[in-house]
Amino acid sequence: MALLASPPRTFSPLQERILRLKKEKNAVLLAHNYQVGEIQDVADFVGDSLGLSYKAQETDADWIVFCGVHFMAETAKIVNPSKRVIIPDLDAGCSLADSCPADKLAAYLAANKAADGRELYVVSYINCTAGVKALSDVICTSGNAVNIVNRIPADREILFAPDRNLGEWVHEKTGRPMRYWDGNCYLHVEFTHASLTKIRAAHPDAPIVAHPECTRPVRLLADEVCSTEKMVHYCRDSAAPAFIIATESGMLERLRRELPHKEFIPAPTDLCACADCRFMKQITLEKLAASLETGNPEIVLDPEVARKALPSLERMLEWSR
Ligand code: 13P
Ligand code: SF4
Repeated sequence: MALLASPPRTFSPLQERILRLKKEKNAVLLAHNYQVGEIQDVADFVGDSLGLSYKAQETDADWIVFCGVHFMAETAKIVNPSKRVIIPDLDAGCSLADSCPADKLAAYLAANKAADGRELYVVSYINCTAGVKALSDVICTSGNAVNIVNRIPADREILFAPDRNLGEWVHEKTGRPMRYWDGNCYLHVEFTHASLTKIRAAHPDAPIVAHPECTRPVRLLADEVCSTEKMVHYCRDSAAPAFIIATESGMLERLRRELPHKEFIPAPTDLCACADCRFMKQITLEKLAASLETGNPEIVLDPEVARKALPSLERMLEWSR
């Protein structure tokens, strides 16, 4: 008899119900890496914003049930508008998306032109609303931002929205001058140079892996700065047995499941021993089961906004293939 690489998975009654409903409704369940482990366990795909956008675009399921935050489910609806897209809690937002209201961006673009008199070339991080995507030339994620910016014609002046930290990291990698929108992720900016220095002193041999939404003093301490999906690849390929992870807590669940023989240490913030995104954690197994029962809450978009938001997303998906 062959030995199983990992113990067989056992599901709770609620998880069993979710798996049954998923089949009955012909639903695909997409979960972001920051979701709690019990949700990741029942998902069809667990990944970063980029990977999940491709899965949403490609699926032939009738329903897309998105366990993540609102802009992610909205993106799924924009790239695959004929599907019913469901998010278990419509109020699961994102501080970065909130930091750039579409009307403020429109006003900025009306008042500010590039030095050569042309429009600014707007690169928006996927953590933004459909209204902001509709005003953007191309979208990026943390997984492809460097490649996307490298593809933009050299004679165009760039506005990077809404995450200043990610934008500055991309600038460091590409050398490309940019203007920045002054937004941030409330959670990632809570990691500090002091909180990381303290955990490094306790685990001096463990590489620090940080998300580019972290501030520069944290990024400078990190051995690797990358998207959540690339964190899995980095930790798998590295010979190190233990890693300090400076991002949201759900990521550690994904890493521990994929790489059970390695140790993952949550980087503390100044406020807390481990970092939970309060928006991601609004999605629970109970809400997921209820949304599969009812097909609600559904993502409903203004068709005109959705139509205008599609080209910037399609450009990203095409440039990242
Ligand atoms: P990733 O695309 O790297 O998963 O990041 C999404 C996010 O919201 C990070 O805070
Ligand atoms: Fe938004 Fe930050 Fe939560 Fe990511 S971790 S979803 S950027 S608030």
